[in-house]
Amino acid sequence: MYDDKRLGVGIDVGTNTVRAVVGATKLHEIPQIIGYGEAVNHGMRKGTIINIDQTANAIDRALATAEKMADTRIMNATVSANGQHIFGQISHGVVAVAGKEVGEDDILRVERAASTLQLGENREILDVTIRSFILGGQASIKNPLGMLGARLEADSYVISGLVPHIRNLEKALLLTELPKTNLIPSGLAAAQVVLNQAQKESGVAVIDIGGTTTNLVVYDEGELYHAAILPVGGNNVTNDLAIGLMTDIDIAEQVKLNYAVATSSQRKTGGRIKITKNDQDYTFETSLVDKIVEARMAEIFELVNVELSKIDRRAKLPAGVVLTGGGAQLAGIEASARETIRLNAKLGQYPNFGGKASEVAGPEWATALGLMMVDIKDDIAVNKPKPTKPKKFGFGKKAK
Ligand SMILES: Nc1ncnc2c1ncn2[C@@H]1O[C@H](COP(=O)(O)OP(=O)(O)O)[C@@H](O)[C@H]1O
Ligand SMILES: [Mg+2]
Repeated sequence: MYDDKRLGVGIDVGTNTVRAVVGATKLHEIPQIIGYGEAVNHGMRKGTIINIDQTANAIDRALATAEKMADTRIMNATVSANGQHIFGQISHGVVAVAGKEVGEDDILRVERAASTLQLGENREILDVTIRSFILGGQASIKNPLGMLGARLEADSYVISGLVPHIRNLEKALLLTELPKTNLIPSGLAAAQVVLNQAQKESGVAVIDIGGTTTNLVVYDEGELYHAAILPVGGNNVTNDLAIGLMTDIDIAEQVKLNYAVATSSQRKTGGRIKITKNDQDYTFETSLVDKIVEARMAEIFELVNVELSKIDRRAKLPAGVVLTGGGAQLAGIEASARETIRLNAKLGQYPNFGGKASEVAGPEWATALGLMMVDIKDDIAVNKPKPTKPKKFGFGKKAK
């Protein structure tokens, strides 16, 4: 049906919800969203699979809905890898240039050298970004091809995860009978659709607030600079409300979805909130709800500050922070982020996708949309890389 088009499929295996998006595109055209689906995921905790069958089941259901809508059978997809076991580290490679000028072969060798590093036990590489090259001592070279020099170096950023957790995700995907999948660290995916190159050059962060994880990625000088997965998210707000208001989790969630405000500047002063469940009324002090929500959001953004401090970017990213994820739907989230992070903060905006784009326009779809874009760009049918070797395909400039 889409013979003249390429299909891209993104599957965001979130801790709360699995989301699948199918896009169709002709070459150089902005994709049309032709199908999407979502399903609650009971198989994960803090981004890590605790039940393979339940995770597979959620993926199956999300995918089945998307397939039906798109009227197509999905054979491969790009899938998000999440969890606190995933982190990034800096790596460096050095080679001697074979001829007088840097050739493609030299670049390949130095990229490979920069991707070979001492990983912790039981870890494997999920993504490698070559940030820049150094030739004969001159740093910050983007493309050294054809330049003169004897010693070529490359700086890279390598994201890895724990093998057992990655295998569990792969097992879940096998159960869904998706023949080919490509795994991408979750945070990198959202950045694909909400950032432009100018922001990446200036310095920018994406904060994707999920249910029990918050993915942070930082870009500077055009390349990935830092990635971290924090073990907190929107569900912590709900749990805090359940404890603080001494009420059920589902009532706390209703309070959050309907009345919670993340920042004092948007507060409605005083008053009470009323929730009705099974003909029973529950009332809460607005000021108490506000206090609980504001404190938790400040705590989440303070954890972001800790990560930014590690890379000397605290309050130092000119293009600010971009917010995505289901948790970013909280009213007043931008002001709350600005107050704690001391940088401009905005909800992520997507490119003008066609088709059913308006139905997947919320911030909770950012990861799935980003994965779909990567899936369209990458030809994963060729050479799926073996474990522990760097990926051949992915973001930006890659190790080959
Ligand atoms: N309107 C809303 N206001 C505040 N929080 C919301 C809203 N809608 C969803 N959320 C929260 O978003 C979180 C889920 O985000 P999502 O990106 O779907 O999770 P994950 O990617 O971890 O599966 C939950 O904590 C949920 O309560
Ligand atoms: Mg999410």
